[in-house]
Amino acid sequence: MALRLNVIIASTRPGRVGPAVAKWFEAYASEKSDFDVHLVDLADFELPIYNEPKHPRMQDYKHDHTKRWAESVDAADAYVFVTPEYNYHPTPALVNAFTYVSKEWGYKPASFVSYGGASGGTRAADATRTWFSPLKMMPIPEAIMAPMVFPQIQDGVFTPNDLQIDSADAMLKELHRWAEALKPLRG
Ligand SMILES: Cc1cc2nc3c(=O)[nH]c(=O)nc-3n(C[C@H](O)[C@H](O)[C@H](O)COP(=O)(O)O)c2cc1C
Repeated sequence: MALRLNVIIASTRPGRVGPAVAKWFEAYASEKSDFDVHLVDLADFELPIYNEPKHPRMQDYKHDHTKRWAESVDAADAYVFVTPEYNYHPTPALVNAFTYVSKEWGYKPASFVSYGGASGGTRAADATRTWFSPLKMMPIPEAIMAPMVFPQIQDGVFTPNDLQIDSADAMLKELHRWAEALKPLRG
């Protein structure tokens, strides 16, 4: 069975550009990689600010929103976060989503399609990687960035440049390699 890649849209604000970027990457990864690719929109989960009574490692979730989110995270073998940077950092929605579950993230590789202004969201991607260690995720250095992303989006459609295509090819290859290698650890 094909390994599953969840492409997670990390911005949830009205008017966001995240879905345009994510839809391109989802389609590209579906066509060019061996992954079974799924688009996951954090906005659909409507997670309130973290409100579980027990430590997530116990996996004894009280709320239906957590159970739904845990199921989605658990189902994947790898993740790509499609993320802007807010004040050089990940979105509050993404940090909140990381906090909700723990073991479900473990022993899986992850990378980024980051976008935004001059830095292409790379500062947020770097800051997000510090979340990977306690959650036992494997950061993949190959990633895609889209600095000054706005002219690349017309009528809700993102058009990649050559560097972004090359970066996608390199990242998908490595991500799949790691997802396969870590499979025995996921039990
Ligand atoms: C609260 C907030 C903080 C932002 N901080 C940054 C930043 O630190 N660096 C940057 O390049 N862009 C920053 N931006 C601009 C975003 O790159 C731009 O709004 C982008 O569209 C955000 O992604 P989204 O539309 O998917 O939410 C910020 C935007 C918001 C709303």
